[in-house]
Amino acid sequence: MSVHSEIKKITTETLRKMKFDKEKITMLTAYDFTTAKMVDAGGVDSILIGDSAANVMAGFETTLPITLDQMIYHTQCVVRGVERALVVADLPFGTYQSNPEKALESAVRMMKEGGAHSIKIEGGAEIEESIRKIVNAGIPVMGHLGLTPQSIYKFGTYKVRAKEDAEAEKLMSDAKLLEELGCFALVLEKIPADLAKKVSESISIPTIGIGAGPDCDGQVLVYHDMVGMNQGFSPKFLRRYLDLYTEITGAVSHYVKDVKSADFPNKSESY
Ligand code: KIV
Repeated sequence: MSVHSEIKKITTETLRKMKFDKEKITMLTAYDFTTAKMVDAGGVDSILIGDSAANVMAGFETTLPITLDQMIYHTQCVVRGVERALVVADLPFGTYQSNPEKALESAVRMMKEGGAHSIKIEGGAEIEESIRKIVNAGIPVMGHLGLTPQSIYKFGTYKVRAKEDAEAEKLMSDAKLLEELGCFALVLEKIPADLAKKVSESISIPTIGIGAGPDCDGQVLVYHDMVGMNQGFSPKFLRRYLDLYTEITGAVSHYVKDVKSADFPNKSESY
């Protein structure tokens, strides 16, 4: 028996059971093979190929420009590095909002070509038919409510969402709709902790929070933020576990100094 077959893979059913057992779910983003391997080895339950790749990999200001082909490429790279975690891939802006047939086509490409285990899309009632169509095709769907970055030009800011009653009520009703439609989990981004708690207690599918307080069923962070590669981004919700920006720039200047001074390579590093 190979080592691989002994690894218990995380599935959508595992996440559902974790909520039932009150075991917190962990999720991080990854966009490439090497990072996915480390993140998987570190023991996260789920890896998200977020469209935040547009920001941290490509340097765009918003997530809007990334294409389906580019997201499929990132997903292929991640899948090759993962043995245990459930792989969730974002469908990018413009690939599922216009009509349900197009949404299904995009989701099928992500599963078939990307090798994802499931997909994530942003929105509630507005994309009901797209979610229905994708779920009916047997593709697991993760929802995403609250601050949905693909709608940044509608919101105008990245501030906390659903602080007012009307938006909070819509979010609650969208969460119940996503559960009814058969989504297996739901990201809640940047909403008040009290509201995230209420939503998490009102639905049977797991909620995964980012800037949504401690009472979600799980937490997700962007990998580059949590390891401190992304110096300019310091929202209140972010906990940095490393300062890799300083570590890496320090290592690079050390290397530059060693080469300039002819210290590297030395005898033992030469043939
Ligand atoms: O694209 C992304 O990284 C995300 C997470 C922030 C949830 O959607």
